[in-house]
Amino acid sequence: MSHNQAELSGRKIPENTKFSAKKVLSNSVDSLELSKIQRHIFLCADQTIPKCCSKQPSLESWEYLKNRLKELKLDQTQENNPNYIFRTKANCLRVCCSGPIMVIYPDGVWYRQATPEVIERIIQEHLIGNKVVEEYAFLLHPLPNCFQNVGEQLIEA
Ligand code: FES
Repeated sequence: MSHNQAELSGRKIPENTKFSAKKVLSNSVDSLELSKIQRHIFLCADQTIPKCCSKQPSLESWEYLKNRLKELKLDQTQENNPNYIFRTKANCLRVCCSGPIMVIYPDGVWYRQATPEVIERIIQEHLIGNKVVEEYAFLLHPLPNCFQNVGEQLIEA
């Protein structure tokens, strides 16, 4: 590899492109305030092959989640409120039954049948009240915090 090129996924990228991508990524980190995220929600919706539920109810759940987080200002950072929540529409979370399936990290709580009504309970009881909605949770598995030091190194790089 030459000094002016970097290799990513088997493709050579000119050095100036690499620099430009780094700047765009850095801008995204800042504009989305990624380093302030407290929780990240993944919801199975708009699936290529709908298995856990049909596509239309999954989209209704996704729209409900998105709108409620916005209404409650949980999708943005606020002074005196560290509860900044990021959400991602997942094509499939590989559970493929009793959907829509939703998982909340870093808590590691997996929810089934995440309809708008259930999502409202999850928002009020779990995201705001910090209490798992046991009636719909089918797994509690917080991920280990094994990358904390690596994360600090990345920030310093
Ligand atoms: S289709 Fe929803 S988890 Fe697989």
